[in-house]
Amino acid sequence: MREMSSMMGDVKEVLIPSEEIQAKLREIGGFITEDYRENPPLLVGVLRGAVVVLGDLMRNVDLPCEIDFMDISSYGAGTSSSGVVRILKDLEEDITDRHVLIVEDIIDSGLTLSYLTRALLARKPASLEIFALLTKPSRRKVETRVKYLGFEIPDEFVVGYGLDYGGAYRNLPDICVLRPEVFGGG
Ligand code: IMP
Ligand code: MG
Repeated sequence: MREMSSMMGDVKEVLIPSEEIQAKLREIGGFITEDYRENPPLLVGVLRGAVVVLGDLMRNVDLPCEIDFMDISSYGAGTSSSGVVRILKDLEEDITDRHVLIVEDIIDSGLTLSYLTRALLARKPASLEIFALLTKPSRRKVETRVKYLGFEIPDEFVVGYGLDYGGAYRNLPDICVLRPEVFGGG
C-alpha cells in the first residue's frame, strides 16, 4: 500500500542525488553553450519524461535558445521491441535549417530515439544532435549517436527527476530505484 504523503517511503535507493544531476547539467550546459555559440539551438523535449531535465538544462545554456516538444508512443501494447512509434503530438516549429538538439530522459532499447532521429532528419534540419540524461547500455537494441550524455546506469527501472512508474514519481528530485513491493502490489 502506498501512502500518498510519502513517495520516499517507496524508494529503495537513491541512485543519483539531485546535487549530482545539477552539477552534471552545469557541465553539459557549458559544452552546449560553446558548441552552439554561432547557432543557438532549438531544444526538443520528448514528453513527458524530459520536461524536468529540459527545464534545468536550458537554464545552464547561455544562449538565446528556443524550446519545443514532441510526444511519441510505441504502437499498441508489448511492441516496444518493434520500433514502430507513433507521433502523438508533433512539433509546433518548422525545423528546416534549424539546429535541433533532442532532449531525452533515458535511452533504453534506443528504438524511440532511432525513430525520432529518422523522422526529424527527414525535415532537413541544419543539424540534429541528442542529449540524454540517462542510458542503460546493456539494454540497447539499436545504437544511436548521443552527443551529450549525463549518466550510465545499470539495468534497473528508475523513477524521479521526470521519470515515472505508472505516471507517478516524476516529481521526486533524485533518480531513484523503487522497492520491489511497489511493482505488482506485493
Ligand atoms: P527506448 O525506446 O526503449 O529507448 O525507450 C525509452 C523510453 O522508455 C524512455 O523515454 C522512458 O519513457 C521509458 N523508460 C525506459 N527505461 C525507463 C526507466 O527505467 N524508468 C522510467 N521510464 C523508462
Ligand atoms: Mg520517454
